[in-house]
Parts: sequence; C-alpha cells; structure tokens
Amino acid sequence: MILEILKFPDPRLREVSKSVDKVTQKHAQLAKDMMETMYAARGIGLAAPQVGELIRMLVIDTRPRDKEGRRYNYDEMTELEKAVTQPLVLINPVIVKGEGKTTFDEGCLSIPGYYETVERYNYVEIKALNEKGEEILVKSDGLLAICMQHEMDHLEGTLFIDHLSFIKGNKIKNQIKKHGYPAPKADDDQEEEEVESEEEESVKA
Ligand code: NI
Repeated sequence: MILEILKFPDPRLREVSKSVDKVTQKHAQLAKDMMETMYAARGIGLAAPQVGELIRMLVIDTRPRDKEGRRYNYDEMTELEKAVTQPLVLINPVIVKGEGKTTFDEGCLSIPGYYETVERYNYVEIKALNEKGEEILVKSDGLLAICMQHEMDHLEGTLFIDHLSFIKGNKIKNQIKKHGYPAPKADDDQEEEEVESEEEESVKA
C-alpha cells in the first residue's frame, strides 16, 4: 500500500520518534508499505516519521538503477556498499562508529524540488534490528552511508535543510512556507524523461 509522504513544514516531521520495544508483524508490514511508497516516489530512503509513524524505523535501497529503473548498475557502488544486502530495513538504528567526512547534494521526499550540499561521515557502522527483530551491523561508505545518516536524522526531527548555513536554510524554509512547492510536472513521457535526467545526479531520501 502506498502511503502519504508528509512534507515540510508538517510538525510531525519535527518530532523525536520512539524506539520500537518489540518488532512485530505490524512493523514488517509497515516496512513493506514504506518500501512500496519509497519506490513509487523514486526515493532511495524513507523514514517512518515521513509517513506519520513516529517510530525509529527506516527503509533504504540506494542501488543505482538504469533509466528504466530495472537493471542495477553495481559498477557505481563501493566495495562496502556491494557487500550490504539491500533493500534494508533498520529499526532502532544507532551509529556505533563514524569516520571521515564527505559531502553530497542531498534531496528529501519531504522537501521535493530542493537539493543542497550536506556534510556527513564518510564511513559508518550502524547497529540496528531488521524487520524480523534480528540484530544487524551495517558497515558502509558511499551513498549508502550518506543515506543512512540522512534517514536517521528524520528520527530526531532533523531535516537536511537544518544542516545548511543559517541564511541558506532559512531562505529555503521561508520560501516553502510562503509559496509551497512547485507544481508537479505534467505526466507525459517526454516530460518524465527530462525530470529523470535532471534528477540523475541528485537523489531523494
Ligand atoms: Ni529525507
């Protein structure tokens, strides 16, 4: 089932989400719905609070795809990324190790149309539970490491625009509060092609 994705400035995106005490079938079903929602929106990650569920859970699939969205292009992934089985469901994720710095042009499904450079750890080790309640440790760099950090921010009520300079961040926030988001592009094939190529370099989470 495709869920509604909340958009900034919805106040629920600013809440600190609650830990999951016991992973149940309900969480597994929510993870499934969140994944369907993420794929439909052509995102690479989605956190539960983005669909109005204030619990510490996120789904991720950063595997790069071709234009048709079918084949995966593993050449663009780092060795560490390739070693992680995706899609990933992370429940109660905690960063146990963070090393180095990297920057990336981030976007967010809750702030459509905006992309800005954000600094993150280059390498992270993240401990979490999967949708079966099993403990997992994910070690990664590359886009997967960046995406996990972006999604974990959502669990604290933090958005990527909070990482920008005060002036830049406020400019975007005020613009959205005043004017909303640009209207979605028309749904004909040619237009779709253009949108895709524009977004090729930037990904939404
Ligand atoms: Ni996001």
